Amino acid sequence: MKKITLKNVRVRFKEHVALDIPALEIGSRVKLAVMGESGSGKSTLLNILCALEEINCGMIFWNNTRIDTLNQMQKDKFRYDKVGLVMQDFYLYSGLSALQNVLLPVKFHYLKIPKPLVFRAVDLLKRLNITQYSKNIDTMSRGEKQRVAIARALINSPQVIIADEPTASLDTQNSLHVTKLLLSLADEMGSALICATHDNILSNHLTHHLWLEKDKKIEAFFA
Ligand SMILES: Nc1ncnc2c1ncn2[C@@H]1O[C@H](COP(=O)(O)OP(=O)(O)OP(=O)(O)O)[C@@H](O)[C@H]1O
Ligand SMILES: [Mg+2]
Repeated sequence: MKKITLKNVRVRFKEHVALDIPALEIGSRVKLAVMGESGSGKSTLLNILCALEEINCGMIFWNNTRIDTLNQMQKDKFRYDKVGLVMQDFYLYSGLSALQNVLLPVKFHYLKIPKPLVFRAVDLLKRLNITQYSKNIDTMSRGEKQRVAIARALINSPQVIIADEPTASLDTQNSLHVTKLLLSLADEMGSALICATHDNILSNHLTHHLWLEKDKKIEAFFA
C-alpha cells in the first residue's frame, strides 16, 4: 500500500454532516493520531477508511483501488487482506479463549490453522503481556481484552493498522507498553498505523496528528 486517498467525501447521519473531507491523503508509513472531542467524527473516519461504514458522496482509494464502491463481499475480503482493525468495543467472542479469539480471523480460511500462525498468535499475545492465552475471554479484565483485540488485529500482518482508542482501557504503564509495541510491530510489518485517541501517551509517540472538530472541513496530506 502506498497511500490512502479521500476526495470530496461526506458522511451524513440524517441532516447532520458528521464528516466533510475535501481532500485527505495518508501515506504507507505514516503513524497518525486522529484526535478531537467526543462526537467529532474519529470513529466514523476510521470506519470509512476501511469501508466499514458507507459514505454519502466522494471517493476513497487505496492506491488506485476505489474501495467505497466495492460490493459487500469484496469489502470483507479487502479488509481481511489489508486491514488490522481494533474497534472501540473490541468485538471479542464470548466463550472462546484469548488464543481462539486471536486466531478467529484466519480460522475461516483454513481447514486446519497452520502452525506458524498459531506460533505468531502466541508470540503476539506474549508480547502484549497476555501469558494465559488459554484463559476464557469472559474472565479477562477490560485492559486484557483490549490487548487480545490488538493481537487479533495484527495476526495477518496487515498493511494498515486502524485502531479506535487502543489504549483507552489501559493504565499508564500498559498504555506506554502497548504504544511502543504498536509502533514497533507497525515498523516490523511496514504498516501504516492510524489511531483515534484521547491518550497523550499514544499521540505523543505518533508521527502525524489530525485534529477533528465538528463542522470543520478536513484537508490534510500526511506523507
Ligand atoms: N450510526 C450512527 N447514526 C447516527 N449518528 C451517528 C452514527 N454514528 C455516529 N453518529 C454521529 O456522528 C458523530 C460522530 O460520531 P463518532 O462516533 O465518529 O465520534 P467520535 O469522535 O468517535 O466520538 P468518541 O470520542 O465519543 O468515540 C456524532 O455526532 C455521532 O452522534
Ligand atoms: Mg469514537
